[in-house]
Amino acid sequence: MFEVSKNKTVDLLSIKRGKKKIWKPKPINVEKFFSTSELIVSKTDTRGNITYGNEVFTKMAGYIEDEYLGQPHSIVRHPDMPKAVFKLLWETIVTGREVNAYVKNLSKDGTYYWVFANVTPSFDRQQNIIGYHSTRRVPNRDALNIVEGLYKKMKSSESFGGIHESSTVLIDTLKQFKLSYEELIFRLQYNTL
Ligand SMILES: Cc1cc2nc3c(=O)[nH]c(=O)nc-3n(C[C@H](O)[C@H](O)[C@H](O)COP(=O)(O)O)c2cc1C
Repeated sequence: MFEVSKNKTVDLLSIKRGKKKIWKPKPINVEKFFSTSELIVSKTDTRGNITYGNEVFTKMAGYIEDEYLGQPHSIVRHPDMPKAVFKLLWETIVTGREVNAYVKNLSKDGTYYWVFANVTPSFDRQQNIIGYHSTRRVPNRDALNIVEGLYKKMKSSESFGGIHESSTVLIDTLKQFKLSYEELIFRLQYNTL
């Protein structure tokens, strides 16, 4: 542990990118919230490095612009998130499609916040992908009960069978509901399951 300011203690584990060094916060079991009138927006380059964050993103992530610009979006990755969700996210967006997902994010102060995220590619006039952007809304709390259970199952399967096992848990859940991933996500968000 390392004291970086009067009341913030973080792990010595850090992400190094270029000259900048970002401390990986130690997660604490405290949730923080944003309002239904707010949108958390960020943009990245094609490799997922942050190129823009709006005020709500800055507030929720807890980093100042200078700290997060140029950093990989994984600076807000929470360890409770299964790898398979991000695999699905990236596999979808690199092919030019958009994806929706429930994501638990980690703030600089160690707290967490849940979002209902839409991630979509940006194109140039030749239809080449030139970056990505994400808009996040307040998640449906009822949906989170199901999503948290699913992600816990995925994480524990990941610990013995890796990302493959974790994806299998997700696929089995979709089979159980007889829905595609997108259908499940939308029905969860809009209470039509
Ligand atoms: C536009 C965009 C927004 C993203 N937003 C988040 C986010 O809010 N939280 C997060 O953990 N990962 C987000 N990601 C995914 C990260 O790039 C990354 O894949 C993820 O944090 C997992 O980290 P890892 O790939 O290093 O394991 C986003 C990616 C893109 C392209």
